[in-house]
Amino acid sequence: MNWSGEFVRLDKAIHDRPSFDCGEVKLNEFIRKHAARHMEAGINTTMVLPASEVLLNGKYPICAFYAIAPGSIERESLPKSHKGKLPRYPIPVFIIVQMAVHSNCQKQGLGKITLVSALKYLRDLNEHMRAYAVIVDCLNESVEGFYAQYGFEALFRAQGRSRMFLPMKTVSMLF
Ligand SMILES: CC(C)(COP(=O)(O)OP(=O)(O)OC[C@H]1O[C@@H](n2cnc3c(N)ncnc32)[C@H](O)[C@@H]1OP(=O)(O)O)[C@@H](O)C(=O)NCCC(=O)NCCS
Repeated sequence: MNWSGEFVRLDKAIHDRPSFDCGEVKLNEFIRKHAARHMEAGINTTMVLPASEVLLNGKYPICAFYAIAPGSIERESLPKSHKGKLPRYPIPVFIIVQMAVHSNCQKQGLGKITLVSALKYLRDLNEHMRAYAVIVDCLNESVEGFYAQYGFEALFRAQGRSRMFLPMKTVSMLF
């Protein structure tokens, strides 16, 4: 499956959600059933990278996607070195709520392309509405290594899941 040039906002009339399969049931269900509804409800934005070839139903398979939303974290959840100048009320962050690459496209660098695209999107957003950091909720601990190689640090682990963060200042310096 070849991917097209750029990430675009999910459009259920154009993008084929049922054929997406990344090997993780929860993420498959998210893009198939919840992503469009959540956008309609105004609680997150899902960006997809369509394949370049169209299916018989006239829609394009999804090669990769990410979903983002605003959020907040407690100052106390951050490592000591980050607490310094921060106030004691909830700290605004951007959250990468979900992110996945279709199984047919994995291990070809698309995970990196997807994460970079999400971080660039958030960097641009940060020019207008500031947030302290980007948070990512890992589906399981085995994915931590993927995010760690781009500078994400662990915030906490619970019930096999983990939350990681990357300061927005670092994101701005990356590009
Ligand atoms: C995790 C995922 C996004 C990685 O996508 P991918 O396209 O296979 O990754 P890439 O080919 O871009 O790999 C980029 C780098 O990350 C590394 N990497 C990939 N998956 C990794 C993992 N699970 N743990 C540690 N490193 C990983 C690769 O080895 C590669 O390193 P290199 O640049 O030194 O060669 C993809 O496997 C996926 O969607 N998995 C199922 C859903 C999932 O777990 N999503 C994350 C939810 S939080």
